[in-house]
Amino acid sequence: MCSIQIEPVIETQRLRLRRPRTADAPRVAKLLNDRDLARMTPSVPHPYGLEDAQAYLAQVDDADPDDRAMFVIDHPEQGPIGVVGFDSENGRAEMGCWIGRPFWNLGFATEAAKGALVWAHKDWKRRYVLARHFSDNPASASVLCKSGFLYTGEVRLSPSAARGEAVPSRMMVWLA
Ligand SMILES: CC(C)(COP(=O)(O)OP(=O)(O)OC[C@H]1O[C@@H](n2cnc3c(N)ncnc32)[C@H](O)[C@@H]1OP(=O)(O)O)[C@@H](O)C(=O)NCCC(=O)NCCS
Repeated sequence: MCSIQIEPVIETQRLRLRRPRTADAPRVAKLLNDRDLARMTPSVPHPYGLEDAQAYLAQVDDADPDDRAMFVIDHPEQGPIGVVGFDSENGRAEMGCWIGRPFWNLGFATEAAKGALVWAHKDWKRRYVLARHFSDNPASASVLCKSGFLYTGEVRLSPSAARGEAVPSRMMVWLA
């Protein structure tokens, strides 16, 4: 039997969120090879090369779509500017996001996160989504608050590949 897989695309006011492609690797590698960006994420090492991006994109491609949904954030003139997505553990989806440094503080992460959350509720049928930010990352705190996340009050130690140590992280939840 032949089944057609419909690829989710999310349109926001200025952005298009689409499934990652192998061809995104050079751009992803270029934007992620940034120490200040990497140290605010759990899993991006520093330095970050083309092979890292290729391995990451292959992993995304292989993932079970019920557990993982990643979107490249495409700008109509600039091309890919970042990634937003969800990973699940024990059925609980958690959102993560990064934007390349040349595009910071233009509202793109907030716009992408809001679009992805609508998709997570309407199409992915999630009733809530978790998120966390390192305690020393006020930009991420701002994005998550503006996107409608609330603090749970829990602080967990989360790994940071670029720092090589665990970092206190503030847990948040978004209710559909
Ligand atoms: C966090 C990140 C995703 C924000 O992306 P962005 O597109 O710049 O986000 P937005 O423009 O939507 O919002 C940024 C907000 O942070 C605020 N901000 C930025 N730097 C700040 C700082 N040092 N202190 C306080 N607020 C800060 C901005 O003022 C803005 O808030 P405002 O609109 O209320 O003024 C981006 O900086 C990034 O990718 N950082 C590295 C990776 C990361 O932290 N990912 C998130 C955790 S996994």
